[in-house]
Amino acid sequence: MLASFWKFTIIISFCLLPVKLEDDSDIPAIAKYFNTKGRYEEVNPYLIEDILAVNRSILQPPSAQCHEIHLTAIIRHGTRYPTTKNIKEIQQLYNIVLHNASGEQNWLRELQTQWTMWYTEDMDSRLVQKGVNDLKHLAVRLSKLFPSLISEEKLRGGLIKFITSSKHRCVNSTLSFKAGLTELWAIKDKEFDHAVNDALMRFFDKCTRFVQEVDNNPSAVVEVDKFKQGPEMRRVQEKIADRLRVPYCLITHDMTEAAFYACAYEFAINAVNSPWCQLFDEDDAKVMEYASDLREFWKRGYGHDINSKSSCILFHDLFSRLDKAANEIKSGQQVTEAVTVQVGHADTILPLLTLLGFFKDSEALTSTNYATQTKRSFRTSHMLPYAANLVLVLYDCGGSDLRLQPLLNEKPVTFSGLTGQQASMPLYQDVKEHCRELLHGCDFETECQLFKPPAEV
Ligand SMILES: *[C@@H]1O[C@H](CO)[C@@H](O)[C@H](O)[C@H]1NC(C)=O
Ligand SMILES: *[C@@H]1O[C@H](CO)[C@@H](O)[C@H](O)[C@H]1NC(C)=O
Ligand SMILES: *[C@@H]1O[C@H](CO)[C@@H](O)[C@H](O)[C@H]1NC(C)=O
Repeated sequence: MLASFWKFTIIISFCLLPVKLEDDSDIPAIAKYFNTKGRYEEVNPYLIEDILAVNRSILQPPSAQCHEIHLTAIIRHGTRYPTTKNIKEIQQLYNIVLHNASGEQNWLRELQTQWTMWYTEDMDSRLVQKGVNDLKHLAVRLSKLFPSLISEEKLRGGLIKFITSSKHRCVNSTLSFKAGLTELWAIKDKEFDHAVNDALMRFFDKCTRFVQEVDNNPSAVVEVDKFKQGPEMRRVQEKIADRLRVPYCLITHDMTEAAFYACAYEFAINAVNSPWCQLFDEDDAKVMEYASDLREFWKRGYGHDINSKSSCILFHDLFSRLDKAANEIKSGQQVTEAVTVQVGHADTILPLLTLLGFFKDSEALTSTNYATQTKRSFRTSHMLPYAANLVLVLYDCGGSDLRLQPLLNEKPVTFSGLTGQQASMPLYQDVKEHCRELLHGCDFETECQLFKPPAEV
């Protein structure tokens, strides 16, 4: 009896094992390194099992008395099609694979005979169906995480406000977030407005100094160009050329990037581990990841002061809303805006994260310190997948004890310098003290003028 039980168990284990392995192989080995083209599930892998799972124990308020009174969520749009530029590059690479590559590998045969160039230029960054689901599911999870704030009653009562960037992928993401809630509560008799506000959600376009000194200035990203021409990247290009058996000169940096994107897009959009992924091993992917991080660092992150300062307008908008809620609570009133949902871009979130001092490493990312930056915290694959979200929750813990909890992608992040027991949910007053200089300055108009007046002495 016992023997047959064990036999049975062993057979079951043998049967299950290959199935499990097959499941895993749907995920490219390099999926963790896709930067801003990564899937949200790679950041929170428990979602692969259950896309609506939440972990309320991460919130850990200091006392049972604490309850949420306001929440602002700044959310990146969901999964999208490639840009027109990326699509053209993928087409170019595909031509090389079709006409110049040779070899017997299965994945190469598959690319040459089965894969088709199904991307068309008119897809230009539009939200895909997976992106609709990204936002619907996020809405449901946030409502499970904060049931007293993101509730049917508050939505119907007009206490949840929606603001979006004008780009179609953002507007559609906003509609999807709302649909996630109205479908959850089966609301059919009512529609909910959203406001389009590019001054807030696309501040980077409106900040003249940023546009001139960084965005349109090649010398702002010299480190990126040097890295692209450096030994680590050259090695990746040569390995790809070797795998395809084509001359090294055919695999430029653009083609290498196109291959990496092709793998990333096929996975994010269609959930397939495509043959494009076979052009990279994990070491190659880490180099590609670094090249992108380097670019984000110099274009949107700590590389130049104006990058983060361009988000001053969003910063003040956020704190004025938190202050309003805090003041309403202190004077015994009802909070008039319980929830604000703001939908924008990776380029919206990264400057703000930088302004607030998150993910700052002791050393800058440069073209020459790839090897010493392997443990860096500035990692866009973790920070900014599709549907990335920065959520700030204000809690009333009784008396005048107000607390603010920042969450990035549904996980607590701590303000540097605010350490100690309650670091993940500091006093709102301490956060304001931490941001004192920004609260009294950080004026968008002043920072973004081309010729910034000298600081007062
Ligand atoms: C939930 O979060 C807690 C605290 O961070 C952690 O210890 C626990 O493993 C998490 N549970 C799941 C299912 O992820
Ligand atoms: C790649 O293939 C195209 C089309 O057959 C051909 O014109 C071109 O010379 C090839 N390039 C190299 C470097 O072999
Ligand atoms: C996005 O919105 C446009 C209209 O603005 C609509 O034509 C399109 O079908 C929408 N796409 C998705 C995926 O919802």
